[in-house]
Amino acid sequence: MSKEKQGIKKVVLAYSGGLDTSVIVRWLIEKYGCEVICFTANMGIELKEKELRSKALKSGASKLIMKDLRDEFISDFIMPALKANALYEGRYPMATSLGRPLIAKWLVQVAHAEGADAVCHGCTGKGNDQVRVEVAVRALDPSLKIIAPLREWEMKTRDEEIEYAKKHGIPVKATKDNPYSIDVNLWGSSTECGILEDPWAEPPVDSYLELSTTDKAPDKAEYITISFEKGVPVRLNGKAMKPITMIEKLKALGCRHGIGKIDMVENRVVGIKSRETYEAPAAIILITAHKELETLTLDKDTMRVKESLMPRFADLVYNGLWFSPLRRALEAFFEETQK
Ligand code: ARG
Repeated sequence: MSKEKQGIKKVVLAYSGGLDTSVIVRWLIEKYGCEVICFTANMGIELKEKELRSKALKSGASKLIMKDLRDEFISDFIMPALKANALYEGRYPMATSLGRPLIAKWLVQVAHAEGADAVCHGCTGKGNDQVRVEVAVRALDPSLKIIAPLREWEMKTRDEEIEYAKKHGIPVKATKDNPYSIDVNLWGSSTECGILEDPWAEPPVDSYLELSTTDKAPDKAEYITISFEKGVPVRLNGKAMKPITMIEKLKALGCRHGIGKIDMVENRVVGIKSRETYEAPAAIILITAHKELETLTLDKDTMRVKESLMPRFADLVYNGLWFSPLRRALEAFFEETQK
């Protein structure tokens, strides 16, 4: 055990209730003899609170803290990204990239409230998410220790984890081995792994979550009107609604018409390329509408500079630098253009 990690007494774990984080609870207790507090955020997908809590406790956690972060996610993360028309490498609206710093922020907050000395996450050692969570935690409280079990433990396969779970009486659902790694929140879903790693392979229908494929979309187009105030969508077809309702409605609408599927090979922050597919109907509709509106409201020079700064902003967000001075300054610039 590294010296830095000796003497860890209380850990806050970003918990989803899946196989990885369930096994992590027990592994932390075995390895550090520490107390484990699970933290689960509602970022826009329905959570079964009772089931999740009982699972966390059965896995060995001392408690589960749940927090509805949807409003904060929209106002502080999604809206600034929309005002910037932020698309990573010109295409990906960054649902996952925007969600991680918020989860990290709350991990830190919960750690402070609970007097924990470390936080822990279940991200793999190959992806962007580990970077986002760790850089954000470091930015907000450099004194907190960070544990990344998937980079540290010996287990190499899902089967070994299931074996470990069985040995320690951790409840695991006997679900069919899902070949994909999926992350979902209000702004969209991200799917990777499995056959998708072959860039020649067309995404199989089972890799779609909710989006209708275009051959199932209705032949007749639907017309909608979105009203913005200072860059924030406030009315749909003239009807005032909260952004969360708007996002949900646009998602259903976009799904029906097959809008918002993104199939791309992207450059990860860790230096590898990755084939990813995304479903982000609401994000794509809103960004498209917002951009169109800006052709009317922005003068040429402001528009040019705004467009030139968008990729920079997207890179910062994607690379995990949400809590950086430049990201904040760019947000202030974009805000100024929305008057
Ligand atoms: N490549 C995307 C990103 O870095 C999606 C990551 C999805 N994460 C996951 N655990 N499936 O933002």
